Amino acid sequence: MKTLLIWFVLMNLDTGHSTETHDQVLSITSKTQEQVDVLKNISTQHETVLWQPDSPQYIREESHVHLFVPANSSKTVKDLLQKHSIAYVILLDNTKELIEMQTRNVSTDPRSSSSYYQRYHSLEEIYYWINWTAQNNPSTVKVILIGSSYEKRPLYALKLTLNNRPNKTALWIDCGIHAREWIAPAFCLWFVQHSLSFYGRNKDITNILDNMDVYVLPVMNPDGYKYTWTTDRMWRKNRSISKGSSCIGVDLNRNFDANWCTMGASHEPCSQIYCGAFPESEPESQAVADFLRSHKDSVQLYLTIHSYSQMLLFPYSCTLDEVENHQDLLEMAQEAAQNIKRHYGNNYKYGAGAKTIYLAPGGSDDWVYNLGIKYSFTFELQDRGEYGFLLPPSHISKACKEAVTAVKAIALKVIEKTQVPTRSLYTV
Ligand code: ARG
Ligand code: ZN
Repeated sequence: MKTLLIWFVLMNLDTGHSTETHDQVLSITSKTQEQVDVLKNISTQHETVLWQPDSPQYIREESHVHLFVPANSSKTVKDLLQKHSIAYVILLDNTKELIEMQTRNVSTDPRSSSSYYQRYHSLEEIYYWINWTAQNNPSTVKVILIGSSYEKRPLYALKLTLNNRPNKTALWIDCGIHAREWIAPAFCLWFVQHSLSFYGRNKDITNILDNMDVYVLPVMNPDGYKYTWTTDRMWRKNRSISKGSSCIGVDLNRNFDANWCTMGASHEPCSQIYCGAFPESEPESQAVADFLRSHKDSVQLYLTIHSYSQMLLFPYSCTLDEVENHQDLLEMAQEAAQNIKRHYGNNYKYGAGAKTIYLAPGGSDDWVYNLGIKYSFTFELQDRGEYGFLLPPSHISKACKEAVTAVKAIALKVIEKTQVPTRSLYTV
């Protein structure tokens, strides 16, 4: 009888546990400054992880805060929110399932099939894919080792040269500077595959690749990406160890030399937006900066791919000042956003980073701009928080297609603006 009773109690505890407390993502809105302060506090404790914004210092009255709350702090966090009358809704109640969905059947499709590009892939698989792509396209694709990560993983970029005409300019795309933004590496793979299969078949892609070489760095933060597959799906930074702190990782997009570590970044190693010990202290940011420094005369367009929030951003993010070609960049981003809206129905915000979201110094886009590459954009891909970083594989295709639409619109404009009018040289 006694054992039966214990069994009964345990059963109930168990079911109570599994129905009420999953890992969840809450959308929380503070109305007063006091509530903002409470929320800032909550978001740095109880093993919660901020999804949006990237750091508590960006939380304001009325901002929609997306917060990952693990099952075992669910009650504490909700009690605190209720105690301070802070409104919240549950955005995701099934994060475990969604993570499962993102990693299921990852290696079942051949690399040549279109379904391969509608899945997320592990770091090892992406390395295989890089080699496979180069081997299968020996005359058009080259692998370039641009450096290595903190944990000594290689940073491979692909160079696509579809046409050997002289004086070509170049387009650079990097993906996955932030580890948890899985749609970003998926986009880089998609873009390479799309370029190789539509060159000569699609007018815009052909025009772009006839005029530009394309460098693609599929995973800029391999250590972080690996860590999101093995240990912590919510990880953002790289994995470098800081002297004097037990916290790990630098935000690579705060580590570039553009008003480095001023307002909108943090000197605190435990922060999600830790800027590192000094500009380019991290091997990942240094490798990209070195490569672009030595190719700045050919690279005319720089794109860096993030998620989520659906935005097309351009410099500056490190100051509220406007760049000299603001109007140009605004028009390009506007056209790209309009094309996405027309073809796919989704709304993308666009504008200068600091004014559109917040001050965020030390970003690659701003640094690249100051280097002299005047067409520099950060894309924040799908979605707007419905799934956030856990965008299901079934959404990859649309997310990538709309991003390709934006790349096309912008690259074609850059070609138009920078092309030497060869004919007129001879006909005048
Ligand atoms: N969410 C991105 C970040 O915080 C935005 C990047 C915009 N550009 C920038 N330089 N901060 O890194
Ligand atoms: Zn990001």
